[in-house]
Parts: sequence; C-alpha cells; structure tokens
Amino acid sequence: MPAPFPHPHLLGIEGLSAADINLILDEAEPWIAFNRGARKADDRLAGLTQINAFFENSTRTLFSFEIAGKRLGAQVSNFHPAASSVRKGESLIDTAQTLNAMRPDLIVIRHEANGAAVEVAAHVDCPVINAGDGQGEHPTQALLDALTIRRRFGRIDGLKLAICGDIRHSRVAGSNMRLLPLLGAELRLVGPDALLPASPPAGVTAFTDMDEGIAGADVVMMLRIQRERLEAGVADALGDYHARYGLTRARLAGAAPDAIVMHPGPMNRGVEIDGDLADDPERSVILEQVEYGVAVRMACLDLLTRSRRG
Ligand code: NCD
Repeated sequence: MPAPFPHPHLLGIEGLSAADINLILDEAEPWIAFNRGARKADDRLAGLTQINAFFENSTRTLFSFEIAGKRLGAQVSNFHPAASSVRKGESLIDTAQTLNAMRPDLIVIRHEANGAAVEVAAHVDCPVINAGDGQGEHPTQALLDALTIRRRFGRIDGLKLAICGDIRHSRVAGSNMRLLPLLGAELRLVGPDALLPASPPAGVTAFTDMDEGIAGADVVMMLRIQRERLEAGVADALGDYHARYGLTRARLAGAAPDAIVMHPGPMNRGVEIDGDLADDPERSVILEQVEYGVAVRMACLDLLTRSRRG
C-alpha cells in the first residue's frame, strides 16, 4: 500500500510536494491500461457520492471527472447551476452548504471566482477537488499534462518547456508554472506583454518573441486566449496574433527535433495553433492529454477518499 496522500483536498499544486505529485502520477499509471480494457468497472468507490458542481462551461474536465467516478463505482451526480437556485441569487457558500447537507463524499468544483474551491472546502465535510477557479489553479490539468510528458520522455527533470499564449489569465498555466519547475523542468513563458504574468515566478523566463521562446524546447504547450477574462480593449490591441504567436509547422522547426505539442483545449484552430499540426499524431499529444486525464482523476478520487473508505 503506497503512502496515503497527506492532504484532505486537492485545491491547487500550491502546497504539494514533488513526492505528492509523483504519488498521483504513479497511481494514475495503471488506470491507463485499465481504461483501455473492454470492461472498465472497479468498485473501490462503491456507495460513495461524488458531486460535480461546475459553475463554468466544460467539456473535457466535467466529462472526465464523471467517467472517472463511475469507473471507480461512485454514484456521480452533476449539479447544474444554470438550472439551480444560483439563478435566484443563492451564494456560493449557501450552495456549498446545501450540497454538503446531502452528505456527499467528494465535491468537484469549477467556478469563475479565484479561490472558490478553497472557500467551498472550508464549509463542507468532504474532500474538495478544484476543477478550475477563475484565473487561479486547475491542478488536475497540470497533473495530466505532467503524466503526458512523463510518458513521452520517461522524465520531466531537465526538459525544456515553453508555455505560449494567454498565460496571465490561464489557470492551466497557473498550475503548470508551479508543477513543472517542482519536477525539475526548465520553464519559459511566451506571449505578448499584455498576456504575460506581471512577474513570472523565480527561475522562469518570459519571452515576447515566439521563435526565441520556443527555440530548442522539448515541449510546446499552447493556450487559448481567455477572451472571457480579458480587460476591455486588450483583445483588440493584440493585432495579428496568429502571425506573431500562432504555432505553425514552420515555427515548430525551431524547437527540439522531437518536440511535442500540447494544448489543454478548447483550441481555436488557426488562432493559437494550426489545425494540421494539432491533428498530427507524430507531434501532437492533445488527445493523449484527454485520455490520461481520466486516469489522473481516478487516482485523485481514489487517494482523497481512502481514509473515508477505511
Ligand atoms: C481549460 C480551463 O477551463 O481552464 N480547459 C480545460 O480544463 N481543459 C482551458 C481553457 O478554458 O482555455
């Protein structure tokens, strides 16, 4: 039996150690083969109630958490804010306490406010997983990204990674900027000034020139422009974004010869990434990211509920 995960919740990469992260990745690994089998039914979460409360749109993350819970035998219910009393002005905390009174064993939350998952965790009696809070963190996305990189290269330590695009407003970048250096990667951020963080974390270099930023990179991770989070006027001032920051095959030639291309989705083809590159299985691991996301979430659901299962 591996050492249990020493945290009651998964609210961010912040606060996790390299050992915690490696534990989750190691636990996720066998679920990949399991998920490729014909029968995908485990019963370790049987009798447990998992609530997915997604206050923001989602395709991959919501579905992935739902499938992960069901494959482990949990009873999974999806709370739909648009059809709920949130529409009648109920606050996040009141909603959380209401859900908590139904005695769930796990709550997965996505919300547009930074810190929402932390707030919910303080008001409920079960583990909470942050599935994305505003511009804050999206820890399971960074974990599935790390698993994808580790499986391709056999390691993360010493790799050169470039995250390109709207870093400032991205919770995917927020979590990856914490996780990747912790596992020994050399991290660069690439984007226009308006989309770069005001102060990059220590040891992380920022570039406004895309070709310089991705030169020699083993991994090029593209991010969508988070239009729904941009300050007024920023989008219009970006100019010909594709010409300056779009990832094309020609541009990728400046990265390492076996460089891989990642994207958390949803992608905007022809804006931050060329469609033919995104579809090239030699280069793009975008669908591997989706596949491994289910395995990572199974590992997280399992680890966080172990103490409740006795
Ligand atoms: C991201 C998100 O919602 O943070 N998507 C995802 O979870 N795979 C990225 C995005 O919305 O651009």
